[in-house]
Amino acid sequence: MKILITGSSKGIGFAASKYFLDKGFEVIGIDLLPSSINDLNYKHYICDIKKYDDLPEINDIDYLFNNAGLQNSESDIQNNLVGTMNVTKKYAFQKSIKSILFNASASSSTGFEFEEYVASKAGLVGYMKTVACKVAKNGVTCNSLSLGGVLTDSNNPVMNDPKLWKEIMDVTPLKKWASLDEVCEWVYFLLVINKSMSGQDVLVDNGEKDLNCTFIWPN
Ligand SMILES: NC(=O)c1ccc[n+]([C@@H]2O[C@H](COP(=O)([O-])OP(=O)(O)OC[C@H]3O[C@@H](n4cnc5c(N)ncnc54)[C@H](O)[C@@H]3O)[C@@H](O)[C@H]2O)c1
Repeated sequence: MKILITGSSKGIGFAASKYFLDKGFEVIGIDLLPSSINDLNYKHYICDIKKYDDLPEINDIDYLFNNAGLQNSESDIQNNLVGTMNVTKKYAFQKSIKSILFNASASSSTGFEFEEYVASKAGLVGYMKTVACKVAKNGVTCNSLSLGGVLTDSNNPVMNDPKLWKEIMDVTPLKKWASLDEVCEWVYFLLVINKSMSGQDVLVDNGEKDLNCTFIWPN
């Protein structure tokens, strides 16, 4: 089985690439940066997903994990939304495709993030639905994963600041963020195990959006 993962050089994409290699998949990675993965079943392309014409020819893809993204880059919409649409147009409609997953964000429904980032990710959730409609007739599933905080290096500015970390945990009902291992399991489940859910945005946020309500009543 062959999976294409964008943003495979760091963070979630890097962890997912190694996870799928361990499961015996052939993994193709695309990233702006080189990769440190050295595995016969891994092929890496240095490429900017914003540039459709630069995307390499890759055939017989079974699974597509649209993961690449930037936060607060001043071109988040161009990068996260238009770039991901480029990748989808180029690879998601091959006959071999079985499932497509977009890495969106919990902020796409809460709005609690940098504004252009939120718009890029909310756009992705809408785009996921139109792609899901198009591919359904071929038995292909297409969903998005909307993560809250994940323990990645990209979050070091808040993870390494005890005061900010306490503020975050105070509003995180499950009192933790998702680990990379857990995120990889969600990605594997949504792409490979799931056969019957499509067009859905799956929120994995340790209860941040829906559990911060209280019932107030006199004793
Ligand atoms: N880390 C979190 O807490 C979190 C939460 C919710 C959603 N997400 C989403 O998950 C995805 C991965 O996040 P991460 O924390 O692993 O980020 P990261 O910065 O660690 O890794 C992102 C990777 O994507 C690559 N990339 C970015 N733009 C690209 C482009 N135009 N072309 C090719 N490659 C490109 C980067 O070079 C980098 O290697 C992002 O889409 C992010 O928005 C992350």
